[in-house]
Amino acid sequence: MIIVGMPNSFALARRIAERTRSEFSKLNVKRFPDGEIHLRYMADVKRKKVVLVQTLIDPNESLMEVVFAARTAKDLGARKVVLVAPYLAYMRQDIRFRKGDCINAKVNAELLSHFVDELITIDPHLHRIEHLKDIFSISTTTLTADPLIASYLKKIKHPLIIGPDEESFQWAQDIARMAGCRSIILHKRRYSSTHVEIEIEEDIDFRKFNVVMVDDMISTGHTMFEVIKDVRKLGAKKITCIAVHGLFTNNAFSRFKRFGVSVVTCNTIAHKTNRIDVSGIISEVL
Ligand code: R5P
Repeated sequence: MIIVGMPNSFALARRIAERTRSEFSKLNVKRFPDGEIHLRYMADVKRKKVVLVQTLIDPNESLMEVVFAARTAKDLGARKVVLVAPYLAYMRQDIRFRKGDCINAKVNAELLSHFVDELITIDPHLHRIEHLKDIFSISTTTLTADPLIASYLKKIKHPLIIGPDEESFQWAQDIARMAGCRSIILHKRRYSSTHVEIEIEEDIDFRKFNVVMVDDMISTGHTMFEVIKDVRKLGAKKITCIAVHGLFTNNAFSRFKRFGVSVVTCNTIAHKTNRIDVSGIISEVL
């Protein structure tokens, strides 16, 4: 087995190689002047199981890199190509919301199923699609960072876990159960990517708790920003925002800093908020 680090995930790939005591190589990926991809394997992959590690932020660029890398590995004689995509992009557009919409999740699954033999991912945004096997035609492994997040929670005294919307309830409830603490779920209404409204139905004295918001991902941050504003009005003092995947689009991280809350993410996407390491759970399945 050879672990091949791709541009979005060099550091994580190296950790996985160390943990699995496997050969490691960085894929050399550059751009031609017009933006086309140039890539080159720097190690021999013939007859090997090639594990490409590339998280799918900046999805259009990184997916094309995966397609070229996977196909090239096969050209060079790889026995099998496994994609470790800790963050799997294109999962939120999972139905045709409006007439004529593309169902991104299905198209992306078809594309990847064509070029790689196996997929390993962490907490994909499965909402209206129940399992990855419903859209992928290759073998898929879905890991969860929930136990790692639950164990991180031990550092926080009197936590109250908040799932900011119905979709995050699966994570919030599981983590709260594992950590043995209380959880509540809020109701979210999304009007656009950046306009979100949250409703808190339960009657809770927020002053008594360290509020910990848990979600699968932070993208623009607006889901969490709304909750922060509301629970602050209700007396919450210390607030921690935990997400598996920190995308931090539209300069979201600097807004979190202005709110004065702690932000913690898993290293599925490299970011300065990474405090929870997923290399162990990936290495176990490899
Ligand atoms: C949505 O259903 C997800 O679980 C997240 O709540 C959402 O994607 C976060 O996005 P944003 O940070 O842009 O509000």
